[in-house]
Amino acid sequence: MNAIDIIRRKRDGYELSREEIFALVEGISSNQIPDYQLSAWAMAVYFNSMNIRETTDLTMAMAASGDVMDLSAIAGIKVDKHSTGGVGDKTTLVVMPLVAAAGVPVAKMSGRGLGHTGGTIDKFESIPGFQVEREHQQFIDQVNRIKAAIVSQTGNLVPADKRLYALRDVTATIDSIPLIASSIMSKKIACGAQGIVLDVKTGEGAFMQDLTGARNLARAMVDIGKEAGREVAALITDMSQPLGNAVGNSLEVIEAIDTLKGHGPEDLTSLSVEIAAYMVLIGRQAKSIEEARKTVRDILLSGRGLEKFQAIIEAQGGRIDLQEKHYGLGQAPQLIEVKADQTGYLQKMNALYIGRAAMLLGAGREKIGDKIDYKVGIKLLHKPGDRIQKGETLAVMHGAGKNLTEAEQLIKDSIQWSNEPVKKTDLIIETIL
Ligand code: URA
Repeated sequence: MNAIDIIRRKRDGYELSREEIFALVEGISSNQIPDYQLSAWAMAVYFNSMNIRETTDLTMAMAASGDVMDLSAIAGIKVDKHSTGGVGDKTTLVVMPLVAAAGVPVAKMSGRGLGHTGGTIDKFESIPGFQVEREHQQFIDQVNRIKAAIVSQTGNLVPADKRLYALRDVTATIDSIPLIASSIMSKKIACGAQGIVLDVKTGEGAFMQDLTGARNLARAMVDIGKEAGREVAALITDMSQPLGNAVGNSLEVIEAIDTLKGHGPEDLTSLSVEIAAYMVLIGRQAKSIEEARKTVRDILLSGRGLEKFQAIIEAQGGRIDLQEKHYGLGQAPQLIEVKADQTGYLQKMNALYIGRAAMLLGAGREKIGDKIDYKVGIKLLHKPGDRIQKGETLAVMHGAGKNLTEAEQLIKDSIQWSNEPVKKTDLIIETIL
C-alpha cells in the first residue's frame, strides 16, 4: 500500500479502508511517511472529511501506536472524563472524589497545561508533596484501595498523534472534526477507559468557539465511542466566561475544596455534579441519570466527597490542612484589586482574556517546559449578570511582581458593559448521548 494512493483516494473523496488507515498510522509511527505526504493527507481529510468508521479506525490505530494502559486488574467499570479545555476548569478535582465515593473507579492520566488553559496535573502539583509519578502497580493498587488515582501522562502515549498534531498545527489542518475527534479519543482509549464523559466547551475561551462545531465534535466523539465499544456521553458547556471564580493553580485547588465542602461557586458545583452523575451512570452505580444526580448530590452534601479528596491527596503524598488558612497552600506575595472604571451591568467576561491575564502573572506556560508559579492567579469577585458600581473591586490579582499592569489591563478589557440588566446564560447547553 503506498502513501500516494492513500492521499489520492482521500483527495478524490473516497472512503479509506481499515487496512489503508492502519498502514498510514504505521507509516506515521515508523517515520516512513514523510512530513510532506502526511500534511497532504491531513489537508485532503480537512476538505473531504472521514466518516465515523474511518475516524474510529484512525482512533484505534493511533491509540495502539504507543503505551496502552492495562487497567484490567482494577475491579469495576473504569470511567474517565475529558474536558476540551477551559479557563478556571478545575472540575476533575471535584468530580474525581465524588465519583470514587460513589464506588466507580477513576484511574486518571492527565497532562500539564499549555497556553491560556491550565492543566489538571499542574493543579495537583500545586499541593505540597503531591506525587504525580507512580509505578504502574502502585497506581492500580491505589485505585483498587480508594477508587481513585491520578498520574501524569507518559511520554509515549499515542506517539502517532503527537507527530500528526505537530504537523496539523503548522499546516492549518487543526480544525477538522475527524482529526480532532480521533486525536482526543485515541488518548482516552490508550488510557484504558471503558466509559468516558466529555465536556466539550464552546464560546470565546474554548478551543471550539462556535456551537455548531462543538456539537459536531461531541457527536463524532460519542459515535467513535459506540463504534469502539466504549460508552460515551458528551456535555456541551459554555466557556464564554471562566468557570468558577478562581483562575490559577493553587487558587483553583482552594476553590475545588470549597466546592467539596458545599460552598463553591454555583456554576462549578452544578457542572461537577452533572459530569459526575454521567460517570456514575456509566459506571453502573445508578439506574437512571436522575438517580445518579441524587447519589452525587448526597455524597457532596454528606462530606464524603471531601473525605475522598483528602484520601487521594494523602495516598499520593500531598499535604493539605483543612483547618489552616488557604488549606495550607499559601498565598502569592501581592494582592492587587482591579476596580471597575464605570457603573453598569457586567454583560460579558471574555474567558480567553482572563486566561491570558493569569498566564501573564505566571500561572501558565507559553511553551513546554516553562516554569509556572503555582500561587499566582486571579480571583473574580463578579461574573456576568452582576450590577457593579464604579470603583468596586472586580477581581483580585494574586501576583508575584510579574506583568501586573498588563494583566490588570487584560482583566478590564475582558469585560463588556451594559446599561440594561443582563440575563445569566445557561452553563450546560446540551447533552449528546
Ligand atoms: N486537542 C487534542 O487533543 N487534539 C486535537 O486535535 C485538538 C485538541
